[in-house]
Amino acid sequence: MQKSQFMAGNVTFSMIKPDAYADGNSGAILQMIEKAGFKIKALKLTQLSEQNAGKFYEVHRERPFYKDLCSYMSSGPIMALVLEKQDAVAAFRKLIGATNPAQAEEGTIRKIFAKSIEANAVHGSDSDENALIEASFFFSGLEMF
Ligand code: CMP
Repeated sequence: MQKSQFMAGNVTFSMIKPDAYADGNSGAILQMIEKAGFKIKALKLTQLSEQNAGKFYEVHRERPFYKDLCSYMSSGPIMALVLEKQDAVAAFRKLIGATNPAQAEEGTIRKIFAKSIEANAVHGSDSDENALIEASFFFSGLEMF
C-alpha cells in the first residue's frame, strides 16, 4: 500500500462554495482537482449555519465584507474537502488562482467558475497550520490517514 503523506505540508482544506455547488460545477471542479494530482482524503456535502460560517471565517471578523461573507457562505450547500499532495497549500492556491477572479490566471478554477470576489467558487487554506485547523472544523479522525 502506498505510504500516506498525510501530515502538515502535504494537506490542504478546500470548500466548493454555494455558488459553484448550486450551478452544478462541483463535478468539474473535483475533476480539475484530481487531474492536478490531489488525492481526496475526505469529502462532505453540508450546509453551514451563519454562526458556523462566522466561526470558520473568524480571522476576517473585522473586515468590512465579514457579515456578507457569512451570509453568503451559509446560503446553500457547500462541499468540504481535505486534499493531499506534496506542498498542498501552495499547489492548491496556484490551481484555484487569485481571490478576485478578475485577477485570476487563465485556466485556474476561479477564472473558470467564480462569479465575484465573494462568490469565488472555492476556498483554499492559506497556510499548513490553517489547513489542519480548517480540516478539523469539518472532520474528525483525520489522523487515521
Ligand atoms: P476565501 O479564500 O474563502 O477567504 C475569505 C473570503 O472572503 C474570500 O475567499 C472571498 O470569498 C471573501 N471576500 C469577500 N470580499 C473580499 C475582499 N474584498 N477581499 C478578500 N476576500 C473577500
